[in-house]
Amino acid sequence: MAQGADSTAVRTALWRALHVLLDEPPHVVDDLVGVQIADVDDAWRTRPDMNSERTRTNRASIVARSRAAEDTLGDSGSRQYVLLGAGLDTFAQRQDGNVRVFEIDEPATQEWKRQRLDELGYLDSARPILVPVDFEAGQSWLAEAKAAGLDPTAPTVVAMLGVTMYLTRDAISATLREAASLAPGSVTVFSYSRPIEMAPPEVRTILEVASQGAAASGHPWLSLLRPDEAAALARDAGFSDVSVITSDDLHDRYFADRTDGLSPAGGEDLVVAEVSR
Ligand SMILES: C[S@@+](CC[C@H](N)C(=O)[O-])C[C@H]1O[C@@H](n2cnc3c(N)ncnc32)[C@H](O)[C@@H]1O
Repeated sequence: MAQGADSTAVRTALWRALHVLLDEPPHVVDDLVGVQIADVDDAWRTRPDMNSERTRTNRASIVARSRAAEDTLGDSGSRQYVLLGAGLDTFAQRQDGNVRVFEIDEPATQEWKRQRLDELGYLDSARPILVPVDFEAGQSWLAEAKAAGLDPTAPTVVAMLGVTMYLTRDAISATLREAASLAPGSVTVFSYSRPIEMAPPEVRTILEVASQGAAASGHPWLSLLRPDEAAALARDAGFSDVSVITSDDLHDRYFADRTDGLSPAGGEDLVVAEVSR
């Protein structure tokens, strides 16, 4: 693998692939492109963090949040999609070419992804517009995205998936304030993880170990949010219409008809926040 890829971004791309490779169809998101971009060796499925049983909730949660954001985009009719902390997201490669995709990410990961897209030959509509920004460095992602061609007068869908836990609350607020300044009708979807003490007792130990592992790998969990705190961050950022979609809601929406027990319940929740028209 080339230097520079954020390990958390690679892991979530591999979990999306695991969903397709291990779970019965219908797949919540059908994404085998991310594993191509990840450029991992053939033994990736033997990694401890790819264990088929232990990753069930994770991989369900990761595909549920992407699907919910992409459904929000589809329902909105918007033709601009901004991914904050895009990682190895592959909507740009899976869409029909009608949506302009802006991927905002930390510079090293983004440069690495740019090289991988070049190597894989992704061009034109299958190529996102890449905008390097570090949310913790006081940079304006919106100014950079506008400079790269984002139309601020057009309703836009913004997704920030699997990112808030790695950011300080100040950076989350600043990032959301810019999203709240977009054109009326714009919608932002962001995921958050709850504090460990809110988890069922049987999974708390697993989460403690995961938290220690995250810190040891250089990606400490900085912001775990209660649902009321996550919603308040969106309201304080300037959104008028804010709702929380819990992981149980995501189960009901996308997993209720499955017979294999796969479920995102207990994984990340989402906040959906609209700029009033
Ligand atoms: C767990 S990955 C999620 C990637 C993608 N959204 C997904 O769902 O697969 C977290 C992403 O947040 C990005 N990120 C973390 N901290 C950041 C920061 N301070 N500025 C910009 N991006 C950041 C990482 O580079 C990485 O791509």
